[in-house]
Amino acid sequence: MVGYGGHAKSIADCIERGKQYHIAGYTDIQEAEAPYAYLGADDILAGCFRRGILNAVIGIGYLGKGELRQKLYWRLKDIGFRFPVISDPSAIISESAQIGEGTFVGKGAIINAEAYVGKMCIINSAAVVEHECKVGDFSHIAVGAVLCGQVSLGEAAFIGAGATIIQGQKISAHQIIGAGMTIRGCENEGMVWKRHI
Ligand SMILES: CC(C)(COP(=O)(O)OP(=O)(O)OC[C@H]1O[C@@H](n2cnc3c(N)ncnc32)[C@H](O)[C@@H]1OP(=O)(O)O)[C@@H](O)C(=O)NCCC(=O)NCCS
Repeated sequence: MVGYGGHAKSIADCIERGKQYHIAGYTDIQEAEAPYAYLGADDILAGCFRRGILNAVIGIGYLGKGELRQKLYWRLKDIGFRFPVISDPSAIISESAQIGEGTFVGKGAIINAEAYVGKMCIINSAAVVEHECKVGDFSHIAVGAVLCGQVSLGEAAFIGAGATIIQGQKISAHQIIGAGMTIRGCENEGMVWKRHI
């Protein structure tokens, strides 16, 4: 695990519940209180890969840290790491949905029929990605947010906790939708985030 903050704890819990992977340890700028081995700072990642740790999970959450997440992804990719999809056993994922590498699907999340979720996304606890939605790479759907059917998100979008995006809406790349907002339409290009409308 690369980074061991709050979001990393959620991911670690899902990994343990899934019983598919063993957590070899974590890297971070300093040692944290954690039930896993502290491997060192990020400069030891290439050494970890050479020692046979081939899979990586980026434990850093999204809001305000999107750029760091992306930088780390490309750095780890250059080293050769693979990024498994981590989904909690309680998540419901349609067989016709597609999910890109490194995406995390938290507890009770739903990804419905023919949805496409790009790489390195966070579909957080109890979030709903309805049928035929398209979620761009590096996007984060926060806890309890709902994307109704056929919503499309550009790359690195952030949908705040409990927000609802009505069917068919398009959200631009890097756009932030505030917690609890309802997006029903109108031009949103260029706005940092939207109020209730
Ligand atoms: C949208 C958001 C990013 C704005 O943060 P910010 O830039 O620090 O903005 P501020 O808190 O200074 O608020 C600016 C204004 O927007 C309003 N505002 C902020 N968030 C809002 C929201 N979610 N809904 C409605 N109004 C909101 C504030 O009341 C304030 O209004 P004012 O100018 O009339 O006083 C933040 O409020 C938010 O919703 N973050 C998402 C948190 C989240 O979902 N976390 C989940 C982690 S899993």
